[in-house]
Amino acid sequence: MKQVLIVGNWKSNKTNQQAQEWLDQFQISNHNIIICPPFTLLPQLDWRIKNQKLGIKLGAQDISPFDEGAYTGEINGKQIKEFCEYVIIGHSERRKYFSEDDSKLEKKVAMAKKYGIKVIFCVQGEHDVIPQGVEIVAYEPVFAIGTGTPDTPENANETAKKIKEIIDVPVLYGGSVTSQNVKNFTQMPHIDGVLVGGASLDAYEFASIIEKA
Ligand code: PGA
Repeated sequence: MKQVLIVGNWKSNKTNQQAQEWLDQFQISNHNIIICPPFTLLPQLDWRIKNQKLGIKLGAQDISPFDEGAYTGEINGKQIKEFCEYVIIGHSERRKYFSEDDSKLEKKVAMAKKYGIKVIFCVQGEHDVIPQGVEIVAYEPVFAIGTGTPDTPENANETAKKIKEIIDVPVLYGGSVTSQNVKNFTQMPHIDGVLVGGASLDAYEFASIIEKA
């Protein structure tokens, strides 16, 4: 059986207190799990994961295209590397709300590579530019993100297949994944896991997704 990868993207959600409660409720280990919380939560989550040997990996949701220096408000690769093995780059919300274009995304990927951070690169389809050196691609059609209307497993599988013809890396599906529909995606031959937004915020639902995947 293939090892399914489950990534939780918390987006701009949770205080420290809420993150602690989430971890108290989340009782799963021995799975391939990456949580991508906001930057503010990384130190304490990292501490608890190591302290309690929870076996969860951490990812950042963004990375500065610049190295350390005079870039007010940015979090750079060297800082991210302290806590994270992974970083999400190219999420459609970054492209849409923060005007991130191909050239900026390429710089971000280069920064991640410089600091040895593995990249989960999001695309809307097989026609998006995928920079060299990314470790994982997530196919996330915009119409499916946060809408409750996922892509069909067949179309997601077909898109994952096309992406793999361009770059030979694991491909995740993302967009309205829940415990009810996750298996439909992970059972597809070209889909290696899922990127979960809204449904990862609830520890019990996220655990259920992992169990059913
Ligand atoms: P969703 O988000 O699961 O809430 O649809 C997925 C994502 O944006 O990564």
